[in-house]
Amino acid sequence: MASNNTAVGSHKNYIPFNSIINKQPQNIEKRLYVETYGCQMNVADTEIVNGIMNKYGYHTTENISDSSVILLNTCSIREHAESKIYQRLTELKKYKQSNSGLVIGIIGCMAERVKQDLIDKTRLVDLIIGPDEYRKLPYLIENLVEKGEKGIAVRLSRVETYDDIVPLRKEGISAWLAVMRGCDKFCSFCVVPYTRGRERSRSLVGVVDEVKQLWIEGFREVTLLGQNVNSYRSGNNDFAGLLASCAKASPEMRIRFMTSHPQDLSDKLMETIAEYNNLCKYIHLPVQSGSNRILDLMKRSYTIGHYTGLVEKAKKIIPEVALSTDIITGFPTETEEDHRMTLDIMKEVKYDGAYMFKYSAREKTKAFQMKEDVDDETKTRRLMEIIEVQKQISFEINSSMVGKAYEVLIESVSKKSDEMLAGRTDGNKSVIIPKNGTSIGEKVIVNINRANSATLFGTLQKSSNVV
Ligand code: 5AD
Ligand code: SF4
Repeated sequence: MASNNTAVGSHKNYIPFNSIINKQPQNIEKRLYVETYGCQMNVADTEIVNGIMNKYGYHTTENISDSSVILLNTCSIREHAESKIYQRLTELKKYKQSNSGLVIGIIGCMAERVKQDLIDKTRLVDLIIGPDEYRKLPYLIENLVEKGEKGIAVRLSRVETYDDIVPLRKEGISAWLAVMRGCDKFCSFCVVPYTRGRERSRSLVGVVDEVKQLWIEGFREVTLLGQNVNSYRSGNNDFAGLLASCAKASPEMRIRFMTSHPQDLSDKLMETIAEYNNLCKYIHLPVQSGSNRILDLMKRSYTIGHYTGLVEKAKKIIPEVALSTDIITGFPTETEEDHRMTLDIMKEVKYDGAYMFKYSAREKTKAFQMKEDVDDETKTRRLMEIIEVQKQISFEINSSMVGKAYEVLIESVSKKSDEMLAGRTDGNKSVIIPKNGTSIGEKVIVNINRANSATLFGTLQKSSNVV
């Protein structure tokens, strides 16, 4: 059973979850409002939390004023993500003032990182629950309501995967599905190994069953999530095995995944992507920096030579592959020369998309010990330069798609016009088409007529028989 590796705190009257599973919190109005910040993993976690709370009779609400429990599912990856939460908490004061019974909880990475301080500093917060302790939520709320005890549960687990929890998702076309949790890579800038703990995987059977169930529920795309999916293990199966099993079990479902660490992206994984039609020809492969010296300081455990070798191989094995990346500017000691190397790798690989960030020092990480010698102005200027280069590359790639036809999964009505629909290509490009009788959830062939750096615009060619 659960061996808690990082015993970083716990609720003082901890009662094992099994002993409370049948005990429904009584006399509590049960309307739950959750606000989600940060990455897709947090979106998936919010659905798990909603699933747990639903079992205990809680209904989710979109209306904050109508809720009896407000949870903020938080992110710690950069300082800005945390300041947003402090700001949001000041805004939440008014709800507590008009309803003294209102429960306010902080869950997710920031709960794990800041812990008790969140209760001490902001008297507003009643509950602090880390990413591996969501099963305790109903009990801690009950305890709070009955005894007035504030709840804190921030142990990290080596085994918790929520494999048995049915996430409560909003209706839609695209679903997130976390196949593993935690990260053992310890990149020197990153707080995730400290807030989400050690790597552990969900069972292959559990994931495959959930993918099949998602299809029955009307989802047409699923993204398998993990901080580094290449570390996925279930029995003798690795991530390539999991992808192949999902692709076979639900052959019409469009399947994506993220994120792959460049150190251990295997040939087998690339060959599997090439083999199955329903596996998207898209790899998110964060490079972080174009300089070997900076990569070494970042403890990324690969060189640019290895990285470009992988990209070459990916383009050979999966000829139409789309690639995206994450990049950090202004890591300590980054020179203009290092920065230029980052611009060079972007131009060489020609990424279809990039998520770009200014370095933010995080306590506990190795890089936190380093002197922050790149000033904010320089970081911002370098960030602007990489954003500009990426814009040009995306525009070039998107322009080269004009005049060609692509399969598009229609996901929603366009945000800008009720007369238009929005969808994405296999390579994750956003496409807008006129409605013209097309339905959400359909896969259609679209002729691309126009493009900018962010979006393709087209018209329907014909309904494909795929769905
Ligand atoms: N500062 C800036 N960006 C960061 N990331 C992770 N930690 C930091 C940090 N301390 C970025 C990396 C990672 C993405 C999820 O967030 O690029 O791949
Ligand atoms: Fe953070 Fe590195 Fe793990 Fe990604 S691989 S979550 S950047 S430590």
